Amino acid sequence: MKGIILAGGAGSRLYPLTLVASKQLQPVYDKPMVYYPLTTLIEGGVREFCLISTPQDIPRFRQLLGDGSRLGVSIEYREQARPEGIAQAFRIAADFVGNDAVTLILGDNIFWGGDVFQQAFSRFDGGAVVFGYHVHDPDRYGVVEFDAEGRALSIEEKPKAPKSNYAVPGLYLYDNSVIQIARDLKPSARGELEITDVNVEYLRRGTLRVFKLARGFAWLDAGTSSSLHEASAYVQTIESRQGIKVGCPEEAAFRRGLLSLDRLVEVAGTLPRCDYRSYLEGVISEARRG
Ligand code: DAU
Repeated sequence: MKGIILAGGAGSRLYPLTLVASKQLQPVYDKPMVYYPLTTLIEGGVREFCLISTPQDIPRFRQLLGDGSRLGVSIEYREQARPEGIAQAFRIAADFVGNDAVTLILGDNIFWGGDVFQQAFSRFDGGAVVFGYHVHDPDRYGVVEFDAEGRALSIEEKPKAPKSNYAVPGLYLYDNSVIQIARDLKPSARGELEITDVNVEYLRRGTLRVFKLARGFAWLDAGTSSSLHEASAYVQTIESRQGIKVGCPEEAAFRRGLLSLDRLVEVAGTLPRCDYRSYLEGVISEARRG
């Protein structure tokens, strides 16, 4: 499965933070925001990535992540000249996706806990898979309504009167028909190619599955100054309590077998002396002890 990370947008809600670097490059506690969704997809087994961002920000993402070889993956870059909707990603990256299935993750979505995504990736066998997460303010999101058996009945984008408290997070798995569906989409009333309209089309075809994310699962949104601060505090709490890092792509690549132990040692050796390097050295010693 190919992976798209969508990391563009105007970043206007975080201004002036976003004057010189895009939202997805801002720190969430001890690392850039984009590390978190990248790690989520690496944990899911994705090895081929396309990162989409603005023409101004692509060079900075390239500086941060390069061609991905340091992580045992490949990363290509594509420009989105204007933020004309999340589903535009499939038009921009159509040649990258080719005939494969594809997952899309939003560069400002942070997930933590359990192995629900890993399972969804390994069991994916066509159609579309999205998730439902209980939130207190569903009107800010795509909202899914379920019937008594837990089947999705409807999905609406930012409804004024939400039919449930289940928001659809920014991680989506699609078979290759998403490319044609995205080509056929018409812009919504707010002038965007909506990801919700893609999901509605799969629902209409009877090939959309929606999995509810369990209570213990964390989905953090880092789109405003307050939620950015809260996401940092959350990550800091988990990391200092457990001594493990959230959103460490080198570790995820190592655990998925994309980086050998020797290669991880090499990669860690290129970092300056810092907490991040000490952490990787800890992962290495633990692996050596077996
Ligand atoms: O976070 C999940 C929600 O994301 C979903 O529940 C909604 O269905 C979906 O529409 C989206 O809602 P948002 O209001 O959060 O979308 P926003 O316009 O803020 O874009 C989300 C991220 O995607 C943001 O980091 C910027 C990036 N983006 C967005 C658009 C529209 C792009 O890179 N290009 C774009 O054209």
